[in-house]
Amino acid sequence: MKANFRNGIPRMKKRVLSGVQPSGHLHIGNYLGALKSWVKVQHGYESNFCIVDLHAITVYQDPAELRAKIEEVAALFLASGIDPDISSIFVQSSVAEHAELAWMLTCVTPVGWLQRMTQFKAKSEAQETIGDGLLQYPVLMAADILLYQAAIVPVGEDQSQHLELTRDIAQRFNSLYGDTFTVPATHLPSSGARVMGLDDPETKMSKSAPGAGHAVGLLDPPEVARKKIMRATTDSQPAVNFESLGAGVANLIEIARAFEEWTEERARAEFDGRRYGELKKRVADVVIAHLEPLQRRYREIVGEPGYLTGVLRDGAERVRPVAASTVQLAKARMGLYV
Ligand code: TRP
Repeated sequence: MKANFRNGIPRMKKRVLSGVQPSGHLHIGNYLGALKSWVKVQHGYESNFCIVDLHAITVYQDPAELRAKIEEVAALFLASGIDPDISSIFVQSSVAEHAELAWMLTCVTPVGWLQRMTQFKAKSEAQETIGDGLLQYPVLMAADILLYQAAIVPVGEDQSQHLELTRDIAQRFNSLYGDTFTVPATHLPSSGARVMGLDDPETKMSKSAPGAGHAVGLLDPPEVARKKIMRATTDSQPAVNFESLGAGVANLIEIARAFEEWTEERARAEFDGRRYGELKKRVADVVIAHLEPLQRRYREIVGEPGYLTGVLRDGAERVRPVAASTVQLAKARMGLYV
């Protein structure tokens, strides 16, 4: 096994990297599916959490809104419990090596691999003109991961094709130019909950879905969150029946279970036989009880002048040496001038 060194000190912990696009507002699906598990992961791994603004611009973003969302996402990472003393939180475009490595990786990635990506197909169907960046999106994601020699990449199931591609690109580079990149593991040790849309329990809760009743935002005022949950799509049964749960009801139960970290049995005891109106009221209570302290922390973070900027600057400074040394190595391996 290769020794892992960082700043001359042997690196004992495996490195984790994950990213969130600052496009749209983060919601309870992002929290339960990703942020909540990152908060746990950070104690066992050297953790890097990146706000991927260069990914966001693969589709048009209003500049002022993008700028505001970058800070909103960063503040929500902190409010969710990511500790900047043990994890690095940084903005992708602050570390120029992301774009630099992406170009090198682009040159070893067959176009056919990219055209096959289901997310590219879906996103390009929705666009009138397709920016080249949309096709390159997964190469940039590979650069994010390989730049830090990350062993573990906590992402949702919807990103598994991109992660598989990252592995393919790493292996191709390694076989063409010699061992350079850590090939990340395919799966997470444990992953978070998969939360579905409140208005459409067949699709995953999304930042970019249009419906007002689709997602509960992490910054939604309590009465707004409650209203959305009370209006969630259920089915024609009158009450919760664990023997035949409809998708909407199962989703509401999963939301409460994931927030409270209840076991299956506990969730059953809470909800079996409850009428849907009561179920929704109870789920709304649980969600609001968790959002309130998070929102309080959020307000403290954004209310402290200079704090957030400092966290992002420190995060970028901490990761930059690792990124720079990987780029140096990749350049040397390719014969670029170093
Ligand atoms: N594509 C990821 C998503 O939409 C975001 C992302 C970009 C990412 N770079 C990453 C996730 C690197 C993990 C690691 O969810």
